[in-house]
Amino acid sequence: MSNKIRLGILGGGGDSLIGVLHRVASAMYDSYQLTGGVFNPDFELNTGFAEKIGIPTDRVYRDFDTLIEEELKLPETERMQVISVLTPNFLHFPMAKKLLENGFNVICEKPMTTTYEEALTLQEIQKKANTVFAVTYTYTGYPMIRQMKEMIASGVIGTVQKIDVQYYQGWINPIIHDKEKRAATWRLDPEKSGISCCIGDIGTHAFDMIEYVTGMEVKEILADLNYVYSDNKMDVDGTVLLRFSEYVKGLIRTSQIATGEENNFAVNIYGDKGGLKWEQENPNYLYHLTETEPLKVLKPGHAYNSELSLDGTKLPPGHPEGIFDSMGNIYRGVARAIRKEFCHPGEFPTINDGVRGMNFIEKVVESHQKGNTWVRV
Ligand SMILES: NC(=O)c1ccc[n+]([C@@H]2O[C@H](COP(=O)([O-])OP(=O)(O)OC[C@H]3O[C@@H](n4cnc5c(N)ncnc54)[C@H](O)[C@@H]3O)[C@@H](O)[C@H]2O)c1
Repeated sequence: MSNKIRLGILGGGGDSLIGVLHRVASAMYDSYQLTGGVFNPDFELNTGFAEKIGIPTDRVYRDFDTLIEEELKLPETERMQVISVLTPNFLHFPMAKKLLENGFNVICEKPMTTTYEEALTLQEIQKKANTVFAVTYTYTGYPMIRQMKEMIASGVIGTVQKIDVQYYQGWINPIIHDKEKRAATWRLDPEKSGISCCIGDIGTHAFDMIEYVTGMEVKEILADLNYVYSDNKMDVDGTVLLRFSEYVKGLIRTSQIATGEENNFAVNIYGDKGGLKWEQENPNYLYHLTETEPLKVLKPGHAYNSELSLDGTKLPPGHPEGIFDSMGNIYRGVARAIRKEFCHPGEFPTINDGVRGMNFIEKVVESHQKGNTWVRV
């Protein structure tokens, strides 16, 4: 019998954006066996999709409640061990809550919930359940991001003094400028998405990335959001000033109306001895700047990289790895945690990161609504 971890998936059907990333990532280190799930609320589409990707349909369930009920009837040695929640945001909380209450490990898409309060509730339940809970801030799995984290921690750029993170996309343009389309997408519906679109969707990646690579906590923020139309309830663009302490400051610039931009996520961290720069669209290059030496370009797989970075590189240098590999590294970290094997700190984002992310979203919206004032995170 296979000793792979039995994985279930909620959402992520053939019509979804993110499903394929999780399926491929889970297959990457031969740790998981996709066992079933609920890929789509329409049962025919659900089973049709399972047949298409070649998994047996006996554990493809009609809905989420049936999945829990039927899986609990199975002996633990056959039951799904971890479930990935890849549905629209409003379903993350009820699904993750019930999964934790019934002893399942959970991999949850971001934003973790739709409110900070829900996030805190989930954190409490997870503490009692003592199961593994990961939030897929995907980009933290990149080898050169892990290298950046280690270089900052070991003092290569000295004391961090300026942080500038940009996350620009343009995909919402055709939706936001069309009255019918902007009323129809779940991402601009507060009932389904939560109180923020741009900050909730990509601002949280930027926030998590900053805290991940620097190991520092954002203490105060001041936000200015743009909703573009008066009938639109969700931000599609926003700038957030950050204070870490009196003398360490930064900013997050996010947009979904940056026309022509694809997934331009750029992380720039400057210390008093040097700077580190990385861009998601060219993730295999980490730039190290100093005032005294020529620019250095670090790449994955070389012995000069840290153990954590090397651990997330599968092929020799010069074989570019990308977003699938990054998510694959997060899935491997979760597999190690489930199997109670050694797991480097930072191998996968945890429920605490999910809670911080939800706090950030709410504080950003609060700051904007209060007339762009400083708010404590
Ligand atoms: N980590 C990342 O970088 C990243 C990138 C994109 C999306 N996401 C997150 O992933 C989640 C899904 O985003 P998406 O873009 O794939 O959305 P999507 O709308 O493209 O797909 C959602 C999927 O969920 C299914 N679904 C809806 N209701 C369901 C239910 N009740 N039961 C089972 N399945 C159901 C739909 O059929 C569809 O397959 C969101 O929370 C989003 O924020 C994360």
